[in-house]
Amino acid sequence: MGFVRVLESKDVTEGHPVLVVVDNTEVAIFRVGKDVFAIDDLCSHAEASLSEGDQHGHTVECPRHGGRFDIRTGKAKHFPAFSPVRTFPTKVESDVIFVNVDPD
Ligand code: FES
Repeated sequence: MGFVRVLESKDVTEGHPVLVVVDNTEVAIFRVGKDVFAIDDLCSHAEASLSEGDQHGHTVECPRHGGRFDIRTGKAKHFPAFSPVRTFPTKVESDVIFVNVDPD
């Protein structure tokens, strides 16, 4: 499928992640400075939306049980989350954010 246009760049500000759906995949979009990151919206621990979590720099804290993930790598950083979430490539061109949910 390749890169898909998802948002205007101005629509995602640091600390305010946004949920998008790309090819039936729910993706949480984050900004840190000029960088944009995309991970699975669904927490790997249970049913919770990571786009509704608290972002602290490159970390998002799950709103349900407080598990934490690195939005650059998807790795779980804090109990009770152990399994990673997927990350997806992003790019910003002409103030538009693109995500690729099927990079292989
Ligand atoms: S649902 Fe996210 S840490 Fe439990």
